[in-house]
Amino acid sequence: MTPAEAASRPGPVLAFPLPLRAREDVPATAAGGERILLSPPHLTGAEPAALQAALDSGWIAPAGPMPAAFEAAIGEATGFAAVLATTNGTAALHLGYRLLGVAPGDEVWTSTLTFIATIAPAVQMGAVPRFLDVAEESWTLDPNLLERELARAARRGRLPRVVVPVDLFGQCCDLDTIAALCERWGVPVLCDSAAALGATQRGRHAGRGARLAAFSFNGNKIVTTGGGGALASDDARLIERARMLATQAKEPAPHYQHETTGFTYGLSALLAAVGLAQLPALAERVAARRAIFARYREALGDLPGLGFMPEPGWGRANRWLSVALFLPRLGAPDREAVRRHLALRGIESRPVWKPLHLQPAFRGAPRSGGGIAARLFETGLCLPSGSGLTPPQQARVAAAIREAAAG
Ligand SMILES: Cc1ncc(COP(=O)(O)O)c(C=O)c1O
Repeated sequence: MTPAEAASRPGPVLAFPLPLRAREDVPATAAGGERILLSPPHLTGAEPAALQAALDSGWIAPAGPMPAAFEAAIGEATGFAAVLATTNGTAALHLGYRLLGVAPGDEVWTSTLTFIATIAPAVQMGAVPRFLDVAEESWTLDPNLLERELARAARRGRLPRVVVPVDLFGQCCDLDTIAALCERWGVPVLCDSAAALGATQRGRHAGRGARLAAFSFNGNKIVTTGGGGALASDDARLIERARMLATQAKEPAPHYQHETTGFTYGLSALLAAVGLAQLPALAERVAARRAIFARYREALGDLPGLGFMPEPGWGRANRWLSVALFLPRLGAPDREAVRRHLALRGIESRPVWKPLHLQPAFRGAPRSGGGIAARLFETGLCLPSGSGLTPPQQARVAAAIREAAAG
């Protein structure tokens, strides 16, 4: 077939209608009614028009006015001076590690209680991860432990190349304290704020105060583009360098000229358009998720042995995920028993991240503590928290947890 013939053939016919809002409209599949998901995407309704406008403009590539407008909107929402929209949050972290010069054999320190994406790019670059425990008051990187470990590493002459605190489940780490400690030793901070859009720390947006911060807009995040991310900084030169690396490290020349290798990490214009339609709802989404957390507390706070993720005075979480703790020694049912019971009732829940120091992928990696994170993993359960979760759906979740508690 010639190319002309191929072009004139009708396109593939879809044998089934595309499920446009599939995750929210899943038919009943389990006892007790429709399935309730952990954090499904929540559309504003403005996405189709924004997508159509992007298509009509002819800009589809990861370039042009849509990504630029999305980056400006993220800058406005967060206060960062410069933003690069990326294909996903992991790509933003990878770019961050590259900008900060991570090289084989370097140590990169992070909180052990996080998703593997926080550290995966650094490990793939040959870095040695060191996993530090979290603080009881926030479940995020413990600044006291960090202070001790930095002093010890300085004595050994082996300071980390980068420290990567994590804003856990939408709760900011104690970034001001962490950044001040790292500054004392000249160690840059890359904050993994993937889940923390809309959260604040001492009045500033999540990630502000770090050299770089990474965000994610994947399908389960508070603002989503389906898949997407951003790298942000108050240093515009760093983001310019990231932009260059994200577009295959092309030097300014009429031909293809490269001093180094790069990536294809820029966000597509179509997904940027979706992000632009999502971002105006951010404050509303944060309020909705915080209200969901408050309702869980109200509905379940009297159950013996049940606790919730704390919120330290210096932060305002976006409550991306509401997390409950089940402490059997104080009379609560076992976390796994609760999770299985919720699943039987068609309700999705997830254990708190399994600490990275316990992951087979990092067997033998250096660590500092880890007992607090391990306990949170054993007892913590992330409950359905989507901003579209209705009060009756949430009442179903609470009732199912009560059933589990009653045995
Ligand atoms: C803490 C954390 N870091 C990094 C990422 C990676 O983001 P993405 O899925 O957009 O690559 C996520 C995403 O779920 C995350 O929760």
